[in-house]
Amino acid sequence: MKIELSKYSGYCFGVKRALNLAGEALARHHSDGKKVFTLGSIIHNPGVEKELSKQGLISIDDIGDMEDGSVFVIRSHGMSPALIDVLKKRNIDIIDATCPFVKKAQSKASELEEMGFFVAVIGNKEHPEVCGIREQVSHDKVAVIENEEDLELLNKKEKIGVVVQTTQTIGQLKKLTGKLLDNSREVYIINTICDTTKNRQNSVRDLSKRTDLMLIVGGKNSANTTNLANISRENNLRTYHIENSRDIESAWLENAKTIGICGGASTPEKDILEIKKKIEDI
Ligand code: F3S
Repeated sequence: MKIELSKYSGYCFGVKRALNLAGEALARHHSDGKKVFTLGSIIHNPGVEKELSKQGLISIDDIGDMEDGSVFVIRSHGMSPALIDVLKKRNIDIIDATCPFVKKAQSKASELEEMGFFVAVIGNKEHPEVCGIREQVSHDKVAVIENEEDLELLNKKEKIGVVVQTTQTIGQLKKLTGKLLDNSREVYIINTICDTTKNRQNSVRDLSKRTDLMLIVGGKNSANTTNLANISRENNLRTYHIENSRDIESAWLENAKTIGICGGASTPEKDILEIKKKIEDI
């Protein structure tokens, strides 16, 4: 049996940076007793979240649950400017771990509004990154487009400017923007899918065509991992999205001579190696 790991597995640059900043904040504030918070999980990986919570990182669903004067880490997905303003007024020490690629999508959305475009954000409506991008633009000048039905929200808009969630697929971007000129005079598309995502998706596309079985590793709540699993499934029906080595079922491996493994952007390298070892041991 041959096991091939995608060379783009493991933490992406933005996740590494966010984890380093959170780690430094925890180390700094152990001594002064200040608590360190994030809104929601710092990255979409349950194992890593548990580990950071043991080290003292407190994940909250509402910034009202935080004490004034404490420390707050903005996660790699970014955050709404209105919420950041609230934190500033409460004397919170803010550590901004927003990924630079997400920042670019945010600033492009606001530039498009300044240029007079109605802004379409292609992405998952509830995803924190998409909410952060949408909120850079006035409420009546922006819509989130998740599927073809949502395109109706853009009807009769003369000028449409598009940005896209950094972890979307190029196929989804092409599919949803392809019809925009039917109803608009001017369409300006800025492809804000990040390079890491693009490389990882290409690698999974290639690997899934050459292997008998594909394992895509990462949180079930991770948008980029879910997209990788969908891309893999387009070429290889024996694709499984798993969170860790405990999820593997030995029946999946029957007659599989070649196995491809790729982790999402928030999957630690050690999880991938554990999975490889478990398969070798079965
Ligand atoms: Fe940033 Fe792309 Fe990772 S947007 S957080 S480098 S997946």
